Amino acid sequence: MIPRLGVNIDHIATVRNARGGVHPDPVRGALVAADAGADGITAHLREDRRHIRDEDVRRLKAEVPLPLNFEMAVTDEMVAFACKVRPHAACLVPERRAEVTTEGGLDVARTAGLSDAVARLAGAGIRVSLFIDPEPAQVEAARAVGAAVVELHTGRYCDAPASEREAELARLVEAARAAEAAGLECHAGHGLDFDTAGPVAAIANVVELNIGHFLVGEAIMTGLGPAVARIRQVIAVARSPASARAVT
Ligand code: PXP
Repeated sequence: MIPRLGVNIDHIATVRNARGGVHPDPVRGALVAADAGADGITAHLREDRRHIRDEDVRRLKAEVPLPLNFEMAVTDEMVAFACKVRPHAACLVPERRAEVTTEGGLDVARTAGLSDAVARLAGAGIRVSLFIDPEPAQVEAARAVGAAVVELHTGRYCDAPASEREAELARLVEAARAAEAAGLECHAGHGLDFDTAGPVAAIANVVELNIGHFLVGEAIMTGLGPAVARIRQVIAVARSPASARAVT
């Protein structure tokens, strides 16, 4: 099975907000991504609303014919919002106001209110995922709080110097195996690009990749549709070595 591609459209909203108007519209970006082969749309409503806003999430749910993966902090405000909007999935992430992006995974056992948040979201029919560093102990803790899915943070793999790439990939492989053993669905994301998406997509039980910043950056150069189509091809080729020469 080829892993699903979730396209994170947060940074289309970042560009929009730089001017304070309505262009570029992240919902239009989601529709372009859908046409180019995305399997889902991911959006993170941060506490400070620096990119995606409440109305964007409501419109993504209403206007885009793809499953919506709603990234959110573990707060009462976000749980209540998600239960109202009812996205297909919610990915719980750690959030610090000062950070530029989500810098690490959740420390599952030490995150206050996590089991309650998971139960409330699941009770609203939302598939719950926890964004974790690729560590078997975090996978086990995710199982213990009742999550259905773990998303492995690929940032360290993507940022690693060449000499450490293999070791970081091995951590992802080990955590993905732990997820399978725990009966959890395994996703991966953060920092992925045309070079790093393939090796992660090749991990047998990774069934979804979520990719944002790189695609929006490429969109500026080549257009969002071509960037999404190309990463889709990279992912497909990684799972199907026979077609390796098809990568352009
Ligand atoms: N997955 C999660 C849980 C994230 O928080 C992010 C960043 O918002 C991504 C995937 C996508 O990361 P990037 O924008 O670096 O591709």
